[in-house]
Amino acid sequence: MSATTPPPQSLAQSLPRRATYPSRIRLVQKSPDDVKIMTYLHGICFMPGWSEELMAQTIFSPVNLAVFALVSPPRQDEMIAGFLIAQAVVDPASGGEAEILSFGVLPDYRRQGLARLLLHDITRRLAGLGARRLFLEVAVTNLAARRLYENSGFRPVGERKNYYPLPTGQSEDALVLRRDLAV
Ligand SMILES: CC(C)(COP(=O)(O)OP(=O)(O)OC[C@H]1O[C@@H](n2cnc3c(N)ncnc32)[C@H](O)[C@@H]1OP(=O)(O)O)[C@@H](O)C(=O)NCCC(=O)NCCS
Repeated sequence: MSATTPPPQSLAQSLPRRATYPSRIRLVQKSPDDVKIMTYLHGICFMPGWSEELMAQTIFSPVNLAVFALVSPPRQDEMIAGFLIAQAVVDPASGGEAEILSFGVLPDYRRQGLARLLLHDITRRLAGLGARRLFLEVAVTNLAARRLYENSGFRPVGERKNYYPLPTGQSEDALVLRRDLAV
């Protein structure tokens, strides 16, 4: 393929777009500091966010895996701008299934490709652990996340009625999405 030939569509879709600022992904070290940072990020991305206790239980669980997205904006120190937590229960009897538990990018750093980088990184790690299928739930009204997942190869496989409680006391439905992971 010459340098000017665009990659085939399937290859183009499997590559993460580069984030606007220099960026990298690091594994969450499961330290008390990382729990605090993760709780802070979660509270900004979701209403209400998880408590520090729930976050600690989640990220200290041996079957869960978490990563941070770090960015280096011009003239600023590197900072954590996003996170992703996945459950990597790789049970051979189930054919190696994994699930995304929570995922967010700080509002000021959105639309720069960080979610795509986080997803790319976690799918690689999960596939490396033996996972063959990745599931997640997304609120039907969360159009940004639905677009991201659709463009990242996830397809709807189910629906959960009244899955997410809303601050109004009502609740909203979720879609269950699935993506196969490369061997
Ligand atoms: C959903 C979320 C993680 C996306 O993060 P992000 O870093 O802005 O996403 P990216 O920049 O990597 O975007 C990748 C693609 O997703 C889609 N997308 C992301 N945000 C979108 C938006 N607001 N509207 C439409 N499409 C959007 C686009 O296809 C985008 O590609 P493009 O920029 O080339 O068009 C972020 O909006 C967020 O944290 N939301 C609140 C928490 C949340 O909903 N988490 C997911 C729960 S299931």
